[in-house]
Amino acid sequence: MNELSVSHLLGIKDLTREDIELIFATAEQFKEVINRPIKKVPSLRDITIANLFFENSTRTKLSFELAEKRLSADVLNFSASGSSVSKGETLIDTVNNILSMKVDMVVMRHPHPGAAVFLSQHINSVIVNAGDGTHEHPTQALLDAFSMREKLGDLAGKRVVIVGDILHSRVALSNALCLRKLGAEVMVCGPATLIPKYIERLGVQVSYNLREALAWCDVANMLRVQHERQDITYFPTLREYTKHYGLNATVLNELHKEIVIMHPGPINRGVEISSEVADGDYSIILNQVENGVAIRMAVLYLLASKSQLNFKNN
Ligand code: CP
Repeated sequence: MNELSVSHLLGIKDLTREDIELIFATAEQFKEVINRPIKKVPSLRDITIANLFFENSTRTKLSFELAEKRLSADVLNFSASGSSVSKGETLIDTVNNILSMKVDMVVMRHPHPGAAVFLSQHINSVIVNAGDGTHEHPTQALLDAFSMREKLGDLAGKRVVIVGDILHSRVALSNALCLRKLGAEVMVCGPATLIPKYIERLGVQVSYNLREALAWCDVANMLRVQHERQDITYFPTLREYTKHYGLNATVLNELHKEIVIMHPGPINRGVEISSEVADGDYSIILNQVENGVAIRMAVLYLLASKSQLNFKNN
């Protein structure tokens, strides 16, 4: 198979295992390209991509922009802050105005779950979800699974624990869906108040005890507490959260085994992860960021090919 089954990347939910394998195989080729002295290929020449960020981002925004530039696309960047969104313009009007400038693909981050799906139903352009509220963050899950596979080989039967604020995390949902499709075993761990009630329906185990979860796993993906999405208090104090769910060198050393440590960023050092663990030998946090560019190049390239954008425009 050399074509995706989808025309947009809205969530991992829509991808088949074959889609994920195709994205990984394509990303491997692009990873080789971006490590060459000349890092650019003409694959998306004359294609215009708009990056619409209605919510803050560092990694995802820069990574998509770099991926697009490495593929020789023309790039438009839009941030909601400082735009006419503050004057009451709707999402559809904002996007339609941008699309009338002949944009072929839209990469969008938005605070509302379902915003990317909504856009795909109303806009005649290829849509890539760069994170929609608490719903999905598909390219993060793809780069996470790609990075795990690079480190551990085939993920079938590998045990991955996702620790922290699962309730508000699009990374947790997309990771769980992606890893289950690849045959990995998944556990979530955190305070009961931050674990969604029906998470087991995804074939995911639940633990409320960090030490037990770490003893079980091959990989620990540590998440930050998403204070910006919390309107009530879910645990007594941050100090107590760190005491029970923070990963530090003492906890890691007690395991007497090597596990892979991951974090999607941004890190709250000293809260969910200590600096010595984040920067330590088991951490692949910066590999995740590096792989993000190759994964996003693969996603953009495959979606453009699926819609034949690179043939229409060249
Ligand atoms: N991992 C991630 O989505 O980071 P940003 O919010 O900085 O894009």
